[in-house]
This record gives sequence, C-alpha cells and structure tokens, in this order.
Amino acid sequence: MRSKLVVGNWKMNGATAANAGLLRQVAAIGRQDANPEVAVCVPAPYLAQARDELSGSGVSWGGQTLSQFAAGAYTGEVSARMLQDLGCRYVLVGHSERRTLFGEGDELVAQKVERALQEGLTPILCVGETLAQREAAQTGVVVTGQLGEVMERIGPTQLARCVIAYEPVWAIGTGRSATAEQAQEVHAALRAFAASRDAAVAQGLRILYGGSVKAAVAGELFRKNDIDGALVGGACLDGLEFAAICAAAR
Ligand code: PGA
Repeated sequence: MRSKLVVGNWKMNGATAANAGLLRQVAAIGRQDANPEVAVCVPAPYLAQARDELSGSGVSWGGQTLSQFAAGAYTGEVSARMLQDLGCRYVLVGHSERRTLFGEGDELVAQKVERALQEGLTPILCVGETLAQREAAQTGVVVTGQLGEVMERIGPTQLARCVIAYEPVWAIGTGRSATAEQAQEVHAALRAFAASRDAAVAQGLRILYGGSVKAAVAGELFRKNDIDGALVGGACLDGLEFAAICAAAR
C-alpha cells in the first residue's frame, strides 16, 4: 500500500518572525502522528529555519525549485547539493508557476529532476493542463507528455524515487478544486502511463493532487484509489487548516 503524503507549498511567502509560529504548528502535526507523511516546501532563505524548527518532528522540508547545474557561476541559483546540505528531503520541480512565469519547459524540468535524484533528493514533479487544454480534451495527452519527457531522461526505474503532483493549472489558487472524480481520472491515467513502462514502479508511485485543496474537499479526494495525498498552496499558510487537511489523510 502507498502511504499518504501531504506537502505544503509556501510559494513566495513568509518572514522569519511569522514563520516560527507556523513551523511550530506544522511540527506539532508530525509529532501527533506519523501518518500521513508531511512536508513543507519553503522559500530557500527559510530552509535553515525550517530545519531548526522541524528537526525531530517527523515533518520533512524541501525546496521549491533547483538549478539544473551542479555548482559554479550561476548567479542567483540554488543547487541540489545546497538543498541536501540544508537537510531537504524534497524539491518541487516543474510547478506550473515555474513553467508559465519563468519559462521552464519539459526538457529543463527533466534535467532538474535528474539533478535532484543525483543528489539524493526526492523530486516532486508537477504536471497539469490549462483550462483551454482541458476544454479541448487534451488533459491526458498533456500530463502524460509532461511525465513522459521526464521518464525518457531518467528511465522508468528511477521514477520509483520521485513523487508526482497532478495540479490542473485552472485549479491553482482559484478556489476551484478539481472534483475528486476529475482528479481520480487523471491520476489513474498517469499511473497507467507509468505502468506501461514499469508496472511495479507505477504501483508504488505516489501521485498527489494539488489545486485549491482545503480541508473541506480533502477527505473526498483522499478516498480515491489513485490519490495518494496533496500538494497544498494557499491553505498551508494557515496552520490549523493545514493540520485539518493532514487529519483528513489519516
Ligand atoms: P493552491 O496552490 O493550493 O493555492 O491552489 C497549489 C500549488 O500551486 O501547489
């Protein structure tokens, strides 16, 4: 059985003083129960603070992106090794905001996934369609294409070391979550696609749903066969709401 994973994505939010309270609330979630597994992906400047507050709580922390390069003259970039050095377990790769606002294409995303794996991080590969693509019945083609590009680069067995997050672009930050049925359909398609390359890996692959997840909808999502947890944006900045989402995964 796949264990559930709930990941908070702080995006570009936070300040040292305010983070302390939120991180303590998050640490308490981990201390309460090892199930579900919980992680938060915080802005790079706050990774050390996350490490200090979360160490020993059972909650993991991670980055929101990384450089495809190992080290060197890449001003402004954060390397996989630095994330590793700060105790990160996870790193988001190919979030739709990275793809659309910062021009990250499938090839670059695949390079970043590979780099994360090389440094022992678990990449959380984000895939998802736009509203126009959904309305044109392109959802399956788009998301399996995004996953396919990465599998092509790392090979199917390395996929066992990744987590997938299905995040429909039209559901991110809009307050309009996909229905549990809509999400399940895409999760099943992603798993079937992975299974066409390696059935055992697909069976163990955790596929999270993201896009306006709140406690009110989390339980229904988590009851679906192929939904193994959530990637939570806005709602994870509220410690009580995030705790309620995690509780729904128990
Ligand atoms: P949201 O963001 O929960 O605010 O929709 C999810 C995400 O972008 O990871």
